[in-house]
Amino acid sequence: MANFETVVVDTDLLIIGGGMSACGAAFEAAYWAKKHGLKVTVVDKAAMDRSGAVAMGLSAINQYIGYAKGKNTLEDYVKYVRQDLMGISREDLVYDIARHVDSSVHLFEKWGLPIWKDAQGEYVNEGRWQIMINGESYKVIVAEAAKNAMATLGDKGEILERVFVVEPLMDGDKCIGGVGFSVRENKFYVFKAKATIALMGGAVHVFRPRSVGEGLGRAWYPPWNAGSTAYFTIRAGAEMTCQEVRFIPVRFKDGYGPVGAWFLLFKSRAVNAMGEEYMVTRANELPKWAPYGLAKPIPANLRNWLGMEDVYSGKGPIFMKTEEAIANLAAKYKDDPKAFKKKMKELESEAWEDFLDMTISQAILWAGQNIQPEEKPSEIAAAEPYFIGSHSGASGAWVCGPEDAMPAEYRKQWEPIGVYNHMTTVKGLFTAGDGSGASSHKFSSGSHAEGRIAAKGAIAYILDNNTAPTVDDAVVEQMKKTILAPLDRFQEFAKMSSDPDINPNFIKPKMFMFRLQKIMDEYCAGVSACFTTNKALLDRGLELLGMLKEDHEKLAAEDLHELLRCWENTHRMWIAESHLRHVMFREESRWPGYYFRADFPDMDEANWKCFVNSVWDPKTGEWTMKKVPVVNIL
Ligand code: FAD
Ligand code: ADX
Repeated sequence: MANFETVVVDTDLLIIGGGMSACGAAFEAAYWAKKHGLKVTVVDKAAMDRSGAVAMGLSAINQYIGYAKGKNTLEDYVKYVRQDLMGISREDLVYDIARHVDSSVHLFEKWGLPIWKDAQGEYVNEGRWQIMINGESYKVIVAEAAKNAMATLGDKGEILERVFVVEPLMDGDKCIGGVGFSVRENKFYVFKAKATIALMGGAVHVFRPRSVGEGLGRAWYPPWNAGSTAYFTIRAGAEMTCQEVRFIPVRFKDGYGPVGAWFLLFKSRAVNAMGEEYMVTRANELPKWAPYGLAKPIPANLRNWLGMEDVYSGKGPIFMKTEEAIANLAAKYKDDPKAFKKKMKELESEAWEDFLDMTISQAILWAGQNIQPEEKPSEIAAAEPYFIGSHSGASGAWVCGPEDAMPAEYRKQWEPIGVYNHMTTVKGLFTAGDGSGASSHKFSSGSHAEGRIAAKGAIAYILDNNTAPTVDDAVVEQMKKTILAPLDRFQEFAKMSSDPDINPNFIKPKMFMFRLQKIMDEYCAGVSACFTTNKALLDRGLELLGMLKEDHEKLAAEDLHELLRCWENTHRMWIAESHLRHVMFREESRWPGYYFRADFPDMDEANWKCFVNSVWDPKTGEWTMKKVPVVNIL
């Protein structure tokens, strides 16, 4: 620790993360900061050009309303999200994002993102809300625009990459920045800010993944988001919502290629080993989940559930009928061999590009397994659980909504601390994207738009609360000691064992992660438990998590990279505990294709059509759980 320089960064607005929402936040903040002479600092653990979930690129923008052209209304989108999340959504937040999202998409196009166009020059829709892109460089383009905007601030626009933010910095119950360390140099960072936006994405590898051993690290969600946003907000004392609403994506098996384009654009069917289409043969399961099971589109978790039922009754594997879909699309050219050949080539290249744009490993797997999509179907399977409130999960912080749409009942909560759009229940702390809960289906575009909304809210907060933060140096010194301790621990004890991974005095982050994943998988409804749990399992899981928590004080790091891993896994452990507590509190099964409470196997509209919210109290270390009513704005 002695050779770690402490670098203090004084700023007005601190943006933590460099992903979609952070790029949106930086872009928006730069505009308002320039007007008011404020400083903005962006800190990313990686390099913004390729950081976050969009790193590899994407093949579709999943939220586009087409509002100006009258294609859809904002109300349509609010109802769609409500339906997909089985009635549980913050409609004011969804509405606010929906009315701003198209402008983010139009900016992406202006910045150079190729969006597919039809013969009339209109965007090509994948489904009702999704538009197709040539998106391999999506993140590079969006990050470049954010950096350009930051550059207009001169020395008041600061970007730090490869700095991992660990912990919030607090002044009583107000957030005044954060602390972290460089993953490349021996530097400990202290960020002092008037407002902070936590935008560090969701979490992967909290649960044991399907791919272990030789495939370790391969998951649907790229491995670098470790629950830092949830950790940051929970530890600051912010109220969390929907932490039980994990996301289980059904994907092309083992490579995790997306299914959206196949279902929506190519109109493919998914069938079991007997050739039965579970969406048809198991349709009689849907009334049980009414009204959501009977309305359209059928919620993602119910689509999952019908397929899972086939697998659990021994009818797997499930196949995506790519060859059938391609043949159907080409069928009308059958009488003209030249046109048929051309169409087949076009469909083949679209099929491969879908993967090459966003999940290259799936294209490699196709090649490695001699799969040609026009000849042979591909297996699909449900992946392990992830936390991604911006997608079809809903976990995240409970945030303030917009003045004109937020229900009065929610507004009351912010009146004592200030009503600023997207502020958490902690003064000065904002979030968006995967960080804000109960506002699913924002995806890449909506996360960008929401980052912009949060930045505008945070700048308004700074203008009203423009005082330099008071930081207790002794507290910072103690944080530095705790955060760097794993390095010292390794040095002190490494020689006591001949195997660097096994030592009586410490635990390495990888081993720690395996233990966490085993607990979550077996006790909290992971893949090996068929996504099913009950109170007794959850009680035992919580007990084991408590023991893991004790051992986190024995984490050891050989170098800076492992220090990063230590803290990533601590962050994972906290989101795991929060998730488990929410699953335990909600005594019903509402999202059967995400998880099942075997002791409460039915949906209970009378008692549980509500949000589950939680707060961890930094003073006492106690968790409190509560129900919050869902207020429909439509
Ligand atoms: P991210 O974009 O993931 O950004 C998180 C940022 O935080 C990163 O810069 C990361 O480096 C940084 N960070 C993390 N921890 C720390 C820390 N401790 N300190 C500092 N920085 C930190 N959307 C679509 O529109 N279309 C699609 O086809 C699509 N496909 C998807 C496929 C996959 C596999 C996934 C996972 C998501 C997909 N999405 C898609 C959704 C989209 O990627 C997300 O909605 C969006 O990226 C969320 O934005 P975010 O800013 O919250 O998180
Ligand atoms: S992605 O994140 O990897 O792009 P995916 O390709 O599965 O996700 O889905 C993209 C979009 O299509 C999401 O909005 C998802 O909800 C929607 N979608 C996927 N499959 C279906 C389906 N069978 N019916 C309706 N919507 C679907």
